[in-house]
Amino acid sequence: MEHEVQYHIGFGKKDLGQSPPLIALISGDPDRARIIAQETQGTVLEKELSENRGLNSYLARLPNGRPFISATSGMGAPSLSIVINELYQVGVRVIIRVGTSGSIQSDVKMGSVVITRAALCRQGAADDIAPKEYPAAANPFLTLALVNAARELKTDWHIGITASVDTFFEGQERAESSANKNLLRHLHGVTEEYRALGILNYEMESGTLFKMGSVYGFAAACICGIIADRTQSEHPDHQAKERAVHDAIRVALRAAETFDKEYMQPRYWR
Ligand code: URA
Repeated sequence: MEHEVQYHIGFGKKDLGQSPPLIALISGDPDRARIIAQETQGTVLEKELSENRGLNSYLARLPNGRPFISATSGMGAPSLSIVINELYQVGVRVIIRVGTSGSIQSDVKMGSVVITRAALCRQGAADDIAPKEYPAAANPFLTLALVNAARELKTDWHIGITASVDTFFEGQERAESSANKNLLRHLHGVTEEYRALGILNYEMESGTLFKMGSVYGFAAACICGIIADRTQSEHPDHQAKERAVHDAIRVALRAAETFDKEYMQPRYWR
């Protein structure tokens, strides 16, 4: 069964060669998945694995020769949960999400990167995987690899807790830029509340990814480029995005390259 082509991601273990990769970088955006594998200095594209349903996936090598998959998760936790389930079935055990995010703290500037150490998980898909109270915690060893890479590459980086929610507009308390002018009462003031709790940023996938990591048994981590400053505006900034995404990719690739083999064993994934 495991050698069969997976229905959604459109490839199977048989497509991954003699030494199938344990590591995957996942992006919400198919173009980012392509850029990571095809257009980033140091990475060598081996082959395009599939272009199914916009879930483009690539097999590539890191500068030290380590193989990895660059895959698309799609936007939001339901799509991500499907992709992660199938990546697990083809043998992936180390997953770094490379995403974008909105800052809710004034010191987390546009263009910087945030490494998530744990998520406040307000996601329906995660409730199908583990109870609400189950921790959405990143793998500490893989997270440290991201921090070390961010320091080495001298990026503007932060580490902390991320609010991982299901919707870009309502769930992140966007009022002015949203078509929906009837924001539910329980969401009014939620950003201010999260800010007071020390939460750094909003995104839409890490909470479910982290819960899946602990339940399935794989190492999960997340780095996001800050493309919106919610202390100033609801709108993403295209210029900041370029730098933020570029840095998030560089850090993720360096972490994947340097991640100690010792931590690629099941005892470190629970
Ligand atoms: N992604 C999000 O989920 N929120 C933002 O503000 C920016 C990117």
